[in-house]
Amino acid sequence: MRGRFITFEGPEGSGKSTQARRLMDRLAAGGVNVISAREPGGTRTGEIIRNLLQHDLAKEPICPETEVLLFAASRAQLVRHVIEPALASGSWVVCDRFMDSTTAYQGYGRGFDVERMIEINDFAVGATRPDATILLDLDVAVSLERMNARNVERNQGKDRFEREASGFHERIRNGYLELAGRWPERFRVINSNRPMDEVSAEVWSVVSALGAVAARAPG
Ligand code: TYD
Repeated sequence: MRGRFITFEGPEGSGKSTQARRLMDRLAAGGVNVISAREPGGTRTGEIIRNLLQHDLAKEPICPETEVLLFAASRAQLVRHVIEPALASGSWVVCDRFMDSTTAYQGYGRGFDVERMIEINDFAVGATRPDATILLDLDVAVSLERMNARNVERNQGKDRFEREASGFHERIRNGYLELAGRWPERFRVINSNRPMDEVSAEVWSVVSALGAVAARAPG
């Protein structure tokens, strides 16, 4: 049987990576074969693209059009080299960001035409769609606070996206919520301004509802 494909979306600091890892662990503990991926990245080509995008690797400004296409290129590679083969073999895939990040960040955030971003996504991913997209929703002020705290903790500066003004992050948050309204059968919105355990419990109830797992996994 084909595996299930679950994506996590949300603004900076919304806890996607933590929740994705916890979900992976819980699925694996229940005997589900599961792999994780992150965007941009997840393949050798994708990791090089990630460095280009986030750390100014090429030492020249990346124009916004290039940015869109690099995200799409990384995703196209990830779908064909990692996600599709895994799903076809019956594994589950948990992905930290996917196509909706481009619509939210480059569309709503940077101001590119949202429908065009959706078309570019469609081209990049072909017929592959998440079975569930978990949107970890967070107030922008809290999101920025968490982002700053994380950078201090890791003794690192802000990346290109984190340096954007708060209006950018506000547009992204609202954009995500619009997407969730547009595809209610795929999206589940979870308030992430709560203790992590509560968020994890809600993530688990969403995933359990996908079936095939509730009987096998603990808890
Ligand atoms: P990452 O370190 O993964 O951030 P986070 O922990 O918040 O996921 O960096 C990914 C950055 O790239 C993040 O700021 C969002 C941005 N991004 C886009 O702008 N468009 C996209 O399509 C994707 C996948 C990510």
